[in-house]
Amino acid sequence: MKLALAADHGAFELKASIKKHLDEQGIAYEDFGCDSKESVDYPRFAYRAAKAVADGTYDFGIICCTTGLGVSMAANKVKGIRAAVCTNEMLAEMTRRHNNANVICMGQNVVTPELANKLVDIFVSTAFEGGRHQRRINLLTAIENGEDI
Ligand code: RB5
Repeated sequence: MKLALAADHGAFELKASIKKHLDEQGIAYEDFGCDSKESVDYPRFAYRAAKAVADGTYDFGIICCTTGLGVSMAANKVKGIRAAVCTNEMLAEMTRRHNNANVICMGQNVVTPELANKLVDIFVSTAFEGGRHQRRINLLTAIENGEDI
């Protein structure tokens, strides 16, 4: 499993602590920035990581900002991305089981580092249920393709 990580300045520290957690578990990842707490524009970093997930190079993305909201909006503009802001364990599990989310977004001012690690663990280890949920994912894809549903 390979993960694509990104954050803006507002979650630079959260990204660092997630990286430490992944290192401890031997999970491979690429850090798409940013590289300091200097102010940057979150769409650029969310886009880089989301694009790398959408093109199949990485299995999942972990993208963070102060709230998780801006990066989720940016990531969801990339075709093939289903990004979900997660603030608790249930959301991290359900967005994999039902939405087949491929990007988890979190906010440094919203989740503790410990909770973020827990949400990452749940997210990457929970399988999509398929079945009726695949039909709904297909409808999301149809919307993305500009179809009327
Ligand atoms: C940056 O100040 C902040 O707006 C950003 O980190 C994010 O929370 C946007 O949604």
